[in-house]
Amino acid sequence: MKKSILALGLVAAILTSCGDKKKEEVKTEVETKVEAVQEKATEAVDNIALGKQLFTDKTCTTCHQADTKVIGPSIKEIVKVYNEKEGNLVKFLKGESAAIVDTDPGQVAIMKANLDGFVKDLTGDELAALAAYMRSVK
Ligand code: HEC
Repeated sequence: MKKSILALGLVAAILTSCGDKKKEEVKTEVETKVEAVQEKATEAVDNIALGKQLFTDKTCTTCHQADTKVIGPSIKEIVKVYNEKEGNLVKFLKGESAAIVDTDPGQVAIMKANLDGFVKDLTGDELAALAAYMRSVK
């Protein structure tokens, strides 16, 4: 659905900007752009799938459920606070920014142990995928 809206937007944008270009040229241009958009969308979906996999493999699910607080805050609660305070999930996971969801030192220590234990070996792309997955949880 989103893809087709994007595609329609592109068609409209290109049609209004192309003046008297021949129809065929415009068609090719539109098709190329649509393909690029579809590729991006596929990449985004793959990225979220990787993040979901990591979220399970790295045991994050033990303490973070979608909706309910278990040991740590729920994923939705975390994302809500990060959106409100314009926080950066990747920075937190890299240990470069302090906790903003639950700042109780005891709780922070539990999460910190995980960052040191499970997260430190992940690449920047993997951390970005984790963050993308968390933000995708509806
Ligand atoms: C043993 C339990 C436990 C595990 C496993 C765990 N966490 Fe946490 N997490 C917590 C607790 C407790 C908090 C609340 C303290 C805090 O906010 O730092 C938290 C907070 C967070 C926060 C919010 C930080 C903030 O700004 O307050 C993020 C993001 C997060 N966890 C991501 C993860 C990810 C990703 C994983 C898997 C790699 C993970 N957690 C694994 C217990 C856990």
